[in-house]
Formats: sequence, structure tokens, C-alpha cells
Amino acid sequence: MKILIVGAGGREHALVWKLAQSAHVTQLWCAPGNAGIAQERLAKNQSPVECVNLGVEELPKLLAFARERKADLTVIGPDNPLALGIVDLFQRHGLRIWGPNRNAARFESSKVFSQQFMEKYGIPTARAGTFEDAGAARAFAASLGGRCAVKADGLALGKGVLICTSVPEAEKAIGGILIDKAFGAAGERIVIQELLEGMEISLHALCDGRVAKLFPTSQDHKRALDGDAGLNTGGMGTYSPTPFLTGAQLAEAGRSILEPWLRGCAAEGIYYQGILYPGIMLTKDGPKVLEFNARFGDPETQVYLARLENDLVELLDASVSGTLEKTELRWSPTASVCVVMASGGYPGGYAKGLPIHGLDGAGRLPGTKVFHAGTAGAGDRIVTQGGRVLGVTAWADNLERARDAAYAAVEQIRFDGAQYRRDIAAKALM
Ligand code: AMP
Ligand code: GLY
Repeated sequence: MKILIVGAGGREHALVWKLAQSAHVTQLWCAPGNAGIAQERLAKNQSPVECVNLGVEELPKLLAFARERKADLTVIGPDNPLALGIVDLFQRHGLRIWGPNRNAARFESSKVFSQQFMEKYGIPTARAGTFEDAGAARAFAASLGGRCAVKADGLALGKGVLICTSVPEAEKAIGGILIDKAFGAAGERIVIQELLEGMEISLHALCDGRVAKLFPTSQDHKRALDGDAGLNTGGMGTYSPTPFLTGAQLAEAGRSILEPWLRGCAAEGIYYQGILYPGIMLTKDGPKVLEFNARFGDPETQVYLARLENDLVELLDASVSGTLEKTELRWSPTASVCVVMASGGYPGGYAKGLPIHGLDGAGRLPGTKVFHAGTAGAGDRIVTQGGRVLGVTAWADNLERARDAAYAAVEQIRFDGAQYRRDIAAKALM
């Protein structure tokens, strides 16, 4: 089977790594990929994975490539090509592609759509309102005492959510989005949710249009600094499983979210094939959905795929074919931890092109995999290229050992200004 993967980050490196282990795969391309992806080889025939210099939003070029090279399956990592309708485009041309179509991807590309869907179908979520008018939005925020999350409707590079704890802060957030158009067209409408309190975790479910199969739990660390201080980032580290839900509680949370969600999808004619990734707050009144993403989380994917025992090709194939019901997801009983090493200054401005040292030594450690996110090749060296540079991932028979192994690998790796959190998985080990 020949597979094209679209994306360039740590999530895509993890997908490539796992797909490359499959005996079904004879050729893998990644567009555009990164320096770590370019080093992977296929288990079946030792062929190198080939990075293709096409951007994730270059839909016609990606289509032409997949047709010309006769890709049997295309796998989409990030949200933007999904929102642009890459799945619809490929399907119109008779190509097999994994990910939700444009209509289904609205669960991520429109927070207004998602919020209204949750309310209509009784999915547990925050009390919320949706607004185009700043006056009405201010009045609602005031009724919450200013303690609210103000969210731009559309995709805003992960920056469209403003957490407010006072009326002046909420007014500033509302004015910034609705009047000053800080996020352009993505902010023509907003959702305002009450602030929920509790532990935040990530859920993932693989869906085939009719059935949704829940993954174990994981937890991201979204703030830049230890102790959840500093600015919001794409995610500074993850671990799986979390100790905050028992197996029975996870199954119950899955039921309370996925059953009404599947009913709603059927009622609205939404055909969802791909990963549904709900961000959840474990409140004292039970789990509530903060948002839906229509793709694998990054860096959740790194810890999930370190634990997944199934052949990933078979799972994605079942998701595209609508045969997931018969498929059982199998997870190793290990724990996995991913520590993100980021460029100094991230999520603000940062330097690029800095040489990374120690990758070979770290890569030789047992039970460890260094996933690349923002890296590039420069001659025979590997250099920094993005904000999140590496996702240093380890697995072991318990969380403490996995955490220690991940940090032991981090200590082998050096680049100027490297920053990482020292407290990944700490909440689970207290
Ligand atoms: P989102 O992109 O909607 O997940 O929001 C980004 C982050 O903001 C989430 O990961 C939460 O940490 C936080 N957040 C979003 N909505 C709420 C809410 N209603 N209450 C508390 N925190 C929230
Ligand atoms: N882990 C955060 C995200 O993928 O959105």
C-alpha cells in the first residue's frame, strides 16, 4: 500500500513512524514533512520515507501528486486542509483519504456550530451564548461576572480563545474580536462560555461514520511554563493514561459525549470519518466538553501511538471503509510521556536554523523515540525550524519510569535557547 501523509509536525512524525511499522506499507510520502520524518524507513522493505515539498494548504498540488503516484490512501494530520475541504476534493476524484470532510470538520472549524450542536443534542458542555453583536456579548459576559472564555468562531492558529476573569477583561476580548477584528473573518461571530473549573484532559475517538471507538485518556500541558504559568502554546507535553478517571468513569464519559454526538451526526446528515478529539474539563458536576477538534492532538498523538498495539493502517482503513464496529483497539499497558523541547521565546518570536546536538545518543536509548516537529536538514546537520522543535517520547511499565526516561533523553539533546517544561506528568504523580 502506498500512503501520503499531509503535515509537518510532531503528530505527523508519530503517524509516519507508526505507519512505517506496518507490513502493509510499501511506500510512504509526507508533504511537507520534516528532518526526522525524512530519516524513517519502512519495516517491510527498508525504503526511506520521502518528504515532498508541498504545503498542507496546496490542495490541487496534493491531489495531483496523489493521482500521479497512485497513492492508495492519503492521511491528513492538521486542521486547516480539513476545513478547506481536502477530503471532499480527493473523494470527488475517486481517491481514498482519511479525515472528516468539510461539513464534518466544522466541529473544529466553527465553534458556533459546535456549541449549538452540543446544546441541541444534550452533550455536556459549559453554559454559553453565541454572538455577532458586541452589546449582547458584553451583557452576557457581565451576567457571568466577566468569568468567561471568549472564543472566535473560526480557526485562529490556536490563539482564538481568550480566558477572562473580570468584566473589563471580557469587554476587551469581545471588542478585540468583534469590533477590532483581531482574527479577521474567523472572528465575525464568537462563543462565550462560562469558565469551567477542574482538571482538563484530552479524549480521542476513532470514527467511521457510524461508530466511535474511544482511546485511553491523555493530558496536554498547554501553558509555556511550569505550574501552568505563561502563555498558551500548541502543547508542551503529554502523557497517557491519566489517573483522573477509572476505566468505568472513562466509559461513562465516552457514552455521555459520544452517544448524543453520534445521534446528532446521524440526524444532521454529518458523515464523520476520522478522529474526534474532545477537550474535556472534569468538573464537580462531571466531564464537560470545552471544544471539539477534528483531528489527532499534537502532542497527544505521540503518546497514543507509542501505546497503540494495532496496525495503524488497518485502523485507518476500517475508519474509511466503515468497518470499525468489528475492530478492537488494543493498547499496551505501558505509560507514555512526551516532553516538547521548544525554541527559546516560543510561543512568541524565536530564532531558526540553530544546530541541534545529541539526537543520535537520545535516539539510541531504549523505550524512547525523539519525534521531530520543527526541524530541517542543513547539510549533514539538523537545525531548528519551528516553535515546537522536538517531542521527546518514552514509554515504560509505569508513568514515573516513562517520565524519567523521557527527561533522561531530553538531557542528551542541546540547542541554543532550548526551553521545556520540567513538570510534564507531575499532576499524575503527586
Ligand atoms: P479551546 O481551544 O476551546 O480548547 O480553548 C483553549 C484552552 O482554553 C483550553 O484548553 C482550556 O484550557 C481553556 N478553556 C477553553 N474554554 C474554557 C472554559 N469554558 N472554561 C475554562 N477554560 C477554558
Ligand atoms: N494538544 C492540543 C491540540 O492538538 O490542539
